[in-house]
Amino acid sequence: MNIGIIIFSHTGNTNSVALKLKDRLQAAGHSVKLERITVNADYKPGSDSFQLKTKPEVNAYDALILGAPVWAFSLATVMKSYLMQIESLKNKKVACYVTHFFPYNWMGGKGAVGRMIKICKAKGAAVGGSGIIGWAGKKRRQRKIKDMVEKLSSLF
Ligand SMILES: Cc1cc2nc3c(=O)[nH]c(=O)nc-3n(C[C@H](O)[C@H](O)[C@H](O)COP(=O)(O)O)c2cc1C
Repeated sequence: MNIGIIIFSHTGNTNSVALKLKDRLQAAGHSVKLERITVNADYKPGSDSFQLKTKPEVNAYDALILGAPVWAFSLATVMKSYLMQIESLKNKKVACYVTHFFPYNWMGGKGAVGRMIKICKAKGAAVGGSGIIGWAGKKRRQRKIKDMVEKLSSLF
């Protein structure tokens, strides 16, 4: 399967998970490309004022994994804006994940990934799975990443 991993990552956490997903999916024989959404260089994280500089094209892929951080207990506005400008995700298999700081999913993670899923479904995607990675606590985080990589990779 031709899979696009499309992420927004400001400090690198979401990207580090994406790299593990990429390795796992490639090892399973998929063709995988990791693409990053970018904004203007002088952007202040959390601000609502930004321009999307790189908007990865989704049409080339059969399936997508979308990843983003939680900001202010919600989906990072950059990812929200990117998703909103996609014309259609019809017939695409999609999985979504978020990374956040707090150890509990209800402290922003659940709402943020729920928002991603809702937008993707509204654009016609078949959302098969999702994941939330709390960054606090190294051992706990590593276990959660390993489990999520297995879970999301098995969807494709
Ligand atoms: C502006 C801003 C707001 C944030 N708000 C939250 C939050 O509400 N809850 C949380 O758990 N983490 C929050 N964080 C932490 C990030 O979600 C977390 O560090 C995430 O893994 C960063 O991903 P990245 O390295 O891919 O950018 C916030 C970070 C920033 C920069």
